[in-house]
Amino acid sequence: MSNSSAIKLAGLRDFESAACTKLSREIYDYFSGGANNEITISENDRAYDRIKLRPRILQGVRERDTSVMILEESLSTPICIAPTAFHCLAHKEGELATVKAAVKANAIMMVSMASTVAMEEIALVAKNNSEGLTPKLWFQLYIQPDRELTKLFVKRAEDAEYSALVVTVDSPVFGMRDRDIRNNFHELPDGLSLKNFDSIKSNSSVRPTLEFNSGLTWKDIDWLRSITKLPIFIKGVLCGEDAQLAIQHGVDGIIVSNHGGRQLDTLPATIDVLPEIANAVEHKIPIIIDGGIRRGTDVVKALALGADAIAVGRPILWGLAVNGEQGVCTVLKMLQEELTLAMALCNCSSIKEIKKSLLYSIL
Ligand SMILES: Cc1cc2nc3c(=O)[nH]c(=O)nc-3n(C[C@H](O)[C@H](O)[C@H](O)COP(=O)(O)O)c2cc1C
Repeated sequence: MSNSSAIKLAGLRDFESAACTKLSREIYDYFSGGANNEITISENDRAYDRIKLRPRILQGVRERDTSVMILEESLSTPICIAPTAFHCLAHKEGELATVKAAVKANAIMMVSMASTVAMEEIALVAKNNSEGLTPKLWFQLYIQPDRELTKLFVKRAEDAEYSALVVTVDSPVFGMRDRDIRNNFHELPDGLSLKNFDSIKSNSSVRPTLEFNSGLTWKDIDWLRSITKLPIFIKGVLCGEDAQLAIQHGVDGIIVSNHGGRQLDTLPATIDVLPEIANAVEHKIPIIIDGGIRRGTDVVKALALGADAIAVGRPILWGLAVNGEQGVCTVLKMLQEELTLAMALCNCSSIKEIKKSLLYSIL
């Protein structure tokens, strides 16, 4: 915190309370809220509390190694940044502050197609970090009805050296968010825009607007597979059958996500559907999970139930709102330290040791 007299923040949820005091009601509600009655948000929040840990004792574990491999990438932490739109609503530096923190934490940042800084600028700032660290940037793509526009985005991601594509498939249409309706919040304030689209306005062969695409099928994934060598992650998988189809269609990884409860309401918590998906995937491709992860013990539970890594969405926005780059650094560091602490208390020396046997049977 920049202000030393400020109240100490003891966890990611404290960041939400602190961010709430910094943001306007409309913006706080836009970030925090979800679809309809927000049943899925509360499921995501509560599901981790229902799962209980079952540690072993006297294992003589003196050190903890949190590194993981995702595809060919070696990461010092299984904690990733989920793609979220409009970071400039949280802080004036927006995605640039987030990416600087991500690079410092050696964490994967999935950059939203709906960013308020252009994807090239984000990549450039990441690359030019003073410590010479290698950024780990993935680009989140909504496949557009216009294939030429989609192709253009894939080419831009390749040119800017993003190392994977995250294709979000849980949004055939825009979810209905009651808080935004009540607040009449439906567009970005003056001065902010979807920067990725601004730069293509002069090109008349494509329509430069972000559209959701309800006509998508697995054929579109095959097409995407055919036009790029970048690894493809499908975000929004919620059942075993779709995970198997993803593998059959040459997808490199999946993200188990209910979009943080912002699209279809009354979906179950992602952690509750993870075992079914892990069972179907049989370790053939990596699984990342997001939704409601707020504590190191939540990370342990997700890994124990079959995830290879996890991602956080809102906590990053809260960190940004509270203190820009430094706030995001603190959020990532806190979760990482909590993970290490939870591993220590569970007597696990490495991520590989976090297995289902670390949980009391819940299923
Ligand atoms: C304000 C906000 C904006 C989001 N924007 C996107 C987006 O542009 N693309 C996307 O794939 N997911 C988006 N998501 C969903 C997140 O990637 C992620 O699935 C979700 O936030 C995870 O849940 P958590 O916030 O409980 O950690 C957004 C979520 C929030 C809260």
